[in-house]
Amino acid sequence: MTRPEPTDVEYEVKNIDLIVSKSDAEGNITYVNPIFVKISGYSQASLLEKPHAILRHPDMPKAVFRYLWENIKEGRDVVAYVKNLCADGGYYWVLATVKMAKNPDGTFRNYMSTRRAISASAKERISALYKSLLDVEKSEGDEASWEAFKSYLSENGISNSESFNTFMKNLNK
Ligand SMILES: Cc1cc2nc3c(=O)[nH]c(=O)nc-3n(C[C@H](O)[C@H](O)[C@H](O)COP(=O)(O)O)c2cc1C
Repeated sequence: MTRPEPTDVEYEVKNIDLIVSKSDAEGNITYVNPIFVKISGYSQASLLEKPHAILRHPDMPKAVFRYLWENIKEGRDVVAYVKNLCADGGYYWVLATVKMAKNPDGTFRNYMSTRRAISASAKERISALYKSLLDVEKSEGDEASWEAFKSYLSENGISNSESFNTFMKNLNK
């Protein structure tokens, strides 16, 4: 996958926008809504069957995606801030809610992410957190960054996925 060179151009996600995608168990895209296509800058055809990591921005710390996968694989919903990379190298911030959907017989059906606009204050706080996690990742490695992420969570009284999700939603006010 050739990655676009990141630029400082930020695309605005409007309050009414709901950016939706679905994936298989590995995170490969199986569905995107029209606003996802529009803001990403990719065609629908070039997104389908690609990993969601096509959107991965280099400013995102690995610890956030580790947290995401450790929880959604177990069927726990995750609410998390994500900076995404567009086809032209620009970016947009969202607050994503990622859920596992199951078939009536209880087997895995798909994952779905619904993404909304984020507030200026959430952007400021989360950018600073992610930058510090990324700095640790680069200087001391993935495990140290993961430990730093877990410390941030416990310092903020976050002890489980419910309190994580509530904390993230409250930050967006
Ligand atoms: C339903 C769903 C939606 C996802 N949406 C995004 C997204 O918008 N941006 C993103 O960078 N990763 C998203 N991911 C996480 C990616 O699968 C992947 O873990 C992440 O991009 C990190 O990529 P890497 O592990 O290859 O470094 C999503 C995963 C799932 C299951």
